[in-house]
Amino acid sequence: MAALNSKTKIAVFISGKGSNLKNLIQKSKLKKSKYKVYLVISNKSDAKGLDYAKKYKIKNYSIEKKLSIFEKNALKLVKSNKIEVICLAGFMKILSPDFINKVKIPILNIHPSILPKLKGLNTHERAIKAKHKFSGCTVHYVNEKLDSGEIIIQKKVKISKSDNPKNLEKKILKLEHKAYKEALDKILVFKK
Ligand code: GRF
Repeated sequence: MAALNSKTKIAVFISGKGSNLKNLIQKSKLKKSKYKVYLVISNKSDAKGLDYAKKYKIKNYSIEKKLSIFEKNALKLVKSNKIEVICLAGFMKILSPDFINKVKIPILNIHPSILPKLKGLNTHERAIKAKHKFSGCTVHYVNEKLDSGEIIIQKKVKISKSDNPKNLEKKILKLEHKAYKEALDKILVFKK
């Protein structure tokens, strides 16, 4: 059992560029932060996000294997490092119900749309095509159904006529960085 005043140990699962990871690491360095990024696991050995883990001297692993092997190894690492929360950040695999049940700690995900609108991939392109007035991001708990767990925080932004998928992605990524930190603060609010 962690001491009451110790920071919550989080693991971040990534697949790619890792801007959310970087942001979580930087926020976790603030004195008042209630969490610390203790472990980074990537399913891609060339994920740029791994460079941030190395730069900040955070334990990091890449497990480039089929899902069942990835999950078996990730579960061992999560348990042996006494991780208390898993944050998926640009993690492009869908975790199995078996992993979600066995891990027994909260798993959070960040999704680039205002759920339940636009579950799945290519959300920015789809938002523009469908002429939505707003888009944004959602931090939610992960359950057995894709992008469907309980919502913790959402942030939205207006889509202007001149927006294209690329610049909308940039705008929303900035919101994601705020949202993830706020979501963790929200779920850890009672932690001393
Ligand atoms: C983010 O837009 C996230 O919502 C989505 O993938 C992107 C990852 O960005 N699932 P990064 O790797 O954190 O920079």
